[in-house]
Amino acid sequence: MIPVKLLYTAVYLSVLTSHIASAASADEWKSRAIYQLVTDRFARSDNAAAPCDTSQRVYCGGTWKGITNHLDYIQGMGFDAVWISPIVKNINKTTPDGDSYHGYWTQDLNSLNSNFGSQDDLKELSDSLHSRKMFLMLDVVVNHFAALNATDQGDTDFASLLPFNSSSQFHPKCLISDFNNQTDVEQCWLGDVSFPLPDLNTEDPAIVQTMNDWIKNIVQTSGADGIRIDTAKHIRKDFWPDFVKSAGVYSIGEVITDQVSYAAPYTQVLDGVLDYPAYFALTKAFGSSSGNLSALVDVLTTAQSSYKNGVSPTGSFLENHDQPRFQAITSDQALVRNAMAWTFAQDGIPILYYGQEQGFQGAQDPTNREALWPTGYATSGKPLVDHVTALNAARKAAITKNNSFLSAPAKFISQSNPSALAISKPPLLTLLTNVGSNSTSSTSVSWTVPSSSNLYQSNVVLVDILTCNTVSANSNGDFVVQAEGGSPRVLIPATDLAKDGSLCPNTATGSNSNSNGDRSGHQTATWISSISYAALITAISFIL
Ligand SMILES: *[C@@H]1O[C@H](CO)[C@@H](O)[C@H](O)[C@H]1NC(C)=O
Ligand SMILES: *[C@@H]1O[C@H](CO)[C@@H](O)[C@H](O)[C@H]1NC(C)=O
Ligand SMILES: *[C@@H]1O[C@H](CO)[C@@H](O)[C@H](O)[C@H]1NC(C)=O
Ligand SMILES: *[C@@H]1O[C@H](CO)[C@@H](O)[C@H](O)[C@H]1NC(C)=O
Ligand SMILES: *[C@@H]1O[C@H](CO)[C@@H](O)[C@H](O)[C@H]1NC(C)=O
Ligand SMILES: *[C@@H]1O[C@H](CO)[C@@H](O)[C@H](O)[C@H]1NC(C)=O
Ligand SMILES: *[C@@H]1O[C@H](CO)[C@@H](O)[C@H](O)[C@H]1NC(C)=O
Repeated sequence: MIPVKLLYTAVYLSVLTSHIASAASADEWKSRAIYQLVTDRFARSDNAAAPCDTSQRVYCGGTWKGITNHLDYIQGMGFDAVWISPIVKNINKTTPDGDSYHGYWTQDLNSLNSNFGSQDDLKELSDSLHSRKMFLMLDVVVNHFAALNATDQGDTDFASLLPFNSSSQFHPKCLISDFNNQTDVEQCWLGDVSFPLPDLNTEDPAIVQTMNDWIKNIVQTSGADGIRIDTAKHIRKDFWPDFVKSAGVYSIGEVITDQVSYAAPYTQVLDGVLDYPAYFALTKAFGSSSGNLSALVDVLTTAQSSYKNGVSPTGSFLENHDQPRFQAITSDQALVRNAMAWTFAQDGIPILYYGQEQGFQGAQDPTNREALWPTGYATSGKPLVDHVTALNAARKAAITKNNSFLSAPAKFISQSNPSALAISKPPLLTLLTNVGSNSTSSTSVSWTVPSSSNLYQSNVVLVDILTCNTVSANSNGDFVVQAEGGSPRVLIPATDLAKDGSLCPNTATGSNSNSNGDRSGHQTATWISSISYAALITAISFIL
């Protein structure tokens, strides 16, 4: 006979697992905010003050356990999804481009990268995320593997690769020479002469089948809720539908381009793309006070009508591991705060690259992959931690208050000053400017939201969640808001904020308690769901 306690545990675990393994769709991801991290650089298991010289391009010791131990830090800022760097076994030799600490150099698809921990550690991470109602996003590389030369003549060491160890399973070797030639982009190899990356033959039906089985398996065993697909534009588009169907979870692809027209077709075959066209326009728009805000508006409005399901299932970002950190472009904190606010103000899923909240300034790869542990994961006295926490909370409040928030496209309210941008996603109104922190009274801007825009009722009071100051309409019913020190404003009606919530309680006038709009809501949800598990288990134990 099985001891009763064991039985309870087994039932509890199976209830839990069947619940948390439920695959998350694009709709479930749209309301999320993603924290992107490089596992090797985010947190070590031992929390040691280990040095990490990014220029060395070697492993610095971050692990999955380290991430698990610092979920309070991530969740405390309001993020409810974590994108971790690739998990599979990588080439274990020093290459001309350094070591494989970033995870993008697959050697063996069917093993994990033991530098980051064990299968159990990975499962513990996904279970811990799920118990917090957070999602896990895996980063997967399909397009290529990594191998060194087998001979002095430069023959690739295909035999070192798993499960594909024959040259016939890869495209014939040719380095991509013309990124405007799609055949070249899909059929030739990434990398360079000293370290070319073998390009998988993703036209071969047997290989397609193996990859589809692989993604299904790795999503299930890791408990992932979504996948980020590396170098998606380097594989023919019609490879993707079956692959993402096999994954069974939300998919977002890396398609590097500054053209919406180039990215758009990938939204037909993937749930979303990382919105690179907006990224390039964003960094230019706020990179200096002469940036072009209209060009950014143009990119977003074009994307709204070109991407298959609009912009909302795409990923909006200001930094990532492949691009210079924004503070390497400008250190003006007003510009930084405006650019960060954009990623929360538009339609897409906001993605924050770890370390941005701590003010990291690393320029291009490898300096943009700093270790986070020297910061001590401090949150107090960190203005950008406060900033991103407020941005997350404002967006969540707006999502809760308006069930059209995630489906209705953002609108722009035209401004006479080219340095002013007003983005409306009711009940949220985000006012941005690139005048910078040195702006004087003569160069400062104001935004006008005319009563004719019919956005708010005439007597409404709006709270700027970044300062908790309020703004009221003038006698014409127009809102005229003055910028201070080039700072952005993120406004929401005072009635939409709970008086006892975490967001500007002193100026909020909304009804009390967990009536949405503040982050205590999610704790309630966790509490309720643990009650219902307990109730279920009690019920089952009666039946047994
Ligand atoms: C990499 O190789 C070294 C030496 O050959 C070995 O000690 C180490 O365990 C390997 N690491 C992984 C992650 O395979
Ligand atoms: C690999 O072989 C090519 C061709 O012979 C050579 O140019 C390159 O330097 C080699 N790379 C390494 C890391 O030895
Ligand atoms: C390639 O893999 C197959 C199947 O796993 C194995 O039988 C074969 O020996 C491998 N070939 C080489 C050259 O390693
Ligand atoms: C595009 O690239 C392919 C593969 O490298 C090549 O065969 C073809 O000639 C190129 N087309 C043009 C127009 O350059
Ligand atoms: C800004 O971008 C818009 C839209 O792309 C363009 O029409 C305009 O000429 C640009 N303005 C400047 C000053 O470059
Ligand atoms: C909800 O969003 C829709 C679409 O943007 C808008 O038309 C509507 O006025 C909003 N409602 C509220 C209460 O903000
Ligand atoms: C603002 O002024 C300071 C002091 O003159 C200068 O160092 C800084 O570069 C200026 N910032 C911008 C964004 O122009």
